[in-house]
Amino acid sequence: MEITNKNIIDKLEEKNNLSRDEWTQLFESFNEDDRLYAAEKASNVAQSIYGKDIFIRGIVEFSNICNKNCYYCGLRAGNSNIERYRLSEEDIVSCCQDGYKYGFRTFVLQSGEDPYYDTNMICRIVSRIKKDFPDCAITLSIGEKTYEEYKAYKEAGADRYLLRHETANEDHYSILHPDTMSWKNRMRCLDDLKSLGYQVGAGVMIGSPGQTTKCLIDDMEYMASFKPHMIGLGPFLPNSYTPFKDKPKGSYELTLFMISLCRLCLPHALIPATTALGTIRPNGREQGILAGANVIMPNLSPVNVRDKYKLYDNKIISTGNSDECRRDIEKRVESVGYQVLIDRGDFK
Ligand code: 5AD
Ligand code: SF4
Repeated sequence: MEITNKNIIDKLEEKNNLSRDEWTQLFESFNEDDRLYAAEKASNVAQSIYGKDIFIRGIVEFSNICNKNCYYCGLRAGNSNIERYRLSEEDIVSCCQDGYKYGFRTFVLQSGEDPYYDTNMICRIVSRIKKDFPDCAITLSIGEKTYEEYKAYKEAGADRYLLRHETANEDHYSILHPDTMSWKNRMRCLDDLKSLGYQVGAGVMIGSPGQTTKCLIDDMEYMASFKPHMIGLGPFLPNSYTPFKDKPKGSYELTLFMISLCRLCLPHALIPATTALGTIRPNGREQGILAGANVIMPNLSPVNVRDKYKLYDNKIISTGNSDECRRDIEKRVESVGYQVLIDRGDFK
């Protein structure tokens, strides 16, 4: 008897992995009914571990200057149609102070690959925030660095690191990046971060140019073996000032399906309902939670720079202060029957 997509989803839930043939069938023939079936299972799995709690992380996008040239991203060095900014150490710390007042217990410091913030500076910022807020976790998301740099940040107090692998397929990587960037170095970074004891976040864009079923399967196999603590997934969205400006955006449904599959594959993972998901659909993040996501990452950057961190067109930005952001997120989370938790929200 032919095996149905629902049978395959059941098997994934039970074994946390599938054969390449099973993955191929799922990706190439899933329908809306299968997607909802996976979402229900995935959200039950998330609830069995994390309950109905959604963790919030405050992101401080402290610099949009980048010396890399990823073809998909609006912050790429080659984009001259963007107003660049850098926040001072003082500004960064003050965003965290603000966030703390409104219940944030994780701060994500994110930027382009901006060499202005050297190792000493990053370490100083991290240790200062840790000293002011010892009950908070610090996540860095500042790109590819050396082992020694990652080690220094860790010793300064950084707890987590986000570095999406972007694609587990080396040929696909070279479609998304210029040849000055290397997939092997990306993988080396992720291995270094893991070995240094960080909680590590990997992840991909769904529907990035050149992504095939084989790439998605490679991603699932990579994640099943690397076992990231966090998984960032969002649809690819074109940015008008990049070489991929005319490429179609990724599929909303496939993004939700991938969230569910990742949850079934790695039940304990921390999976955010991303800004890109909220950009492609007004209630995309709420649907992400219903598909198995359990983290939301509102913006804590100063209001006057928020519209400048433009990875892709039409990125949703909240114009309110940290308090208003927090309330908006709370309302969204509660609208689907969950609650926001004041907690560091560590991997269980
Ligand atoms: N569309 C969607 N996601 C993007 N990112 C960068 N550019 C885009 C885009 N055009 C994602 C990448 C990167 C993260 C910071 O944002 O996956 O790792
Ligand atoms: Fe720079 Fe990151 Fe954008 Fe690549 S994805 S251009 S490294 S900010």
